[in-house]
Amino acid sequence: VKSFEVRSRSGNYPVIFGASSEVRAAFQKIIAANGNLSLDNSVVVADSNTERIAQTVIKSLGIQKSPVIVPAGEPSKSLEMAEHLYQELIDLKANRRTLIIAVGGGVIGDLTGFVAGTFMRGIPYVQIPTTLMAQVDSSIGGKVGVNLPAGKNLVGLFYPPRGVISIPEFLETMPHSELRSGFVEAAKQAALASPRLFSQLEALPILSVKNIAPLIPEIAAAKIDIVSCDEFETSDERIVLNLGHTVAHAIERGCHYEGISHGEAVGFGILLEHQFVGSPALGRFKKVFSSLQVLPQTLPSNFSSEGALSSIATDKKAVGGTVKLPILEDIGRVSIKEVDLQTLTDFLRTPGLLSGVFLR
Ligand SMILES: NC(=O)c1ccc[n+]([C@@H]2O[C@H](COP(=O)([O-])OP(=O)(O)OC[C@H]3O[C@@H](n4cnc5c(N)ncnc54)[C@H](O)[C@@H]3O)[C@@H](O)[C@H]2O)c1
Repeated sequence: VKSFEVRSRSGNYPVIFGASSEVRAAFQKIIAANGNLSLDNSVVVADSNTERIAQTVIKSLGIQKSPVIVPAGEPSKSLEMAEHLYQELIDLKANRRTLIIAVGGGVIGDLTGFVAGTFMRGIPYVQIPTTLMAQVDSSIGGKVGVNLPAGKNLVGLFYPPRGVISIPEFLETMPHSELRSGFVEAAKQAALASPRLFSQLEALPILSVKNIAPLIPEIAAAKIDIVSCDEFETSDERIVLNLGHTVAHAIERGCHYEGISHGEAVGFGILLEHQFVGSPALGRFKKVFSSLQVLPQTLPSNFSSEGALSSIATDKKAVGGTVKLPILEDIGRVSIKEVDLQTLTDFLRTPGLLSGVFLR
């Protein structure tokens, strides 16, 4: 078992990596550090695709209650589903000591964490992330929330879990598209952390769970270090995690969030933002994404470049016509560039750029 500590103002918590046979030991560690928790008073939440993993967890922990299952997919990250979970908790006679165990990808982690953070003004929860993205990124840092019809993640809070238990074996049933999507965030974090770690990703012969599993703890540790220094995103430290995300959000909005995954959009965002500033890191990203076949060759046919460009102009992180872009001067060396939104928009108007053939 490998374990890292996340520093948090409301209590440090461990991110534990191990084999599926070690889930029980990992829980014992978390329970020992939190005197008032008990598995007898716990509720497992999963989605329809992670129910099997939830059953495995329940069996190894000897939990008597069946898991609460929500439909798989982003639409479950809603206030309606949160309300449904509050009702389930009431029906199960949950109290302030009830431990919620979230078994799933980022949707289950964000939704369950939000419910845990708000039910009875906050009850404890533990995350067992089951996608690569969730193991390296979303389960760490305590950001939880739901979407509104007006936009993603508009309601939420910082509410750290009591612990995160990451079992790379649980990724084996994940669709390959999710592996590709998670790889982009993994590559982003590795590039922020160290040239050596990024080179290990570049050296992968093919993208598979088996190949990437040994690297997951170190990639996750990159995020652990960052959020431990800037828990509430008040300095530039946590902003570096937004690498590629300004253009990615614009692309996602230009596609109305259809036909492209978040990870793919971030991949395109990383390439375009680094091309914009002429960074030498561009070539390395392009090469690793193309050799592991991480990104599609073009943006989806429903993509509207005007939709994307107008959304850049109204980016919620923009202040006074400029936005802060984290940029890699080189792998392992990040800086924050204050960029004029108009100049970025003009660049993205370059003929051919947003039609997506730039990957070839
Ligand atoms: N809180 C944060 O800091 C943070 C950071 C990044 C992203 N997010 C959020 O994470 C969400 C995306 O998370 P995601 O990419 O994990 O998507 P997801 O949770 O929707 O999972 C993707 C799909 O894979 C399925 N799945 C998950 N694990 C599986 C497994 N082991 N076997 C088979 N199927 C499995 C899910 O049911 C779903 O259909 C977004 O809502 C995003 O906003 C949060």
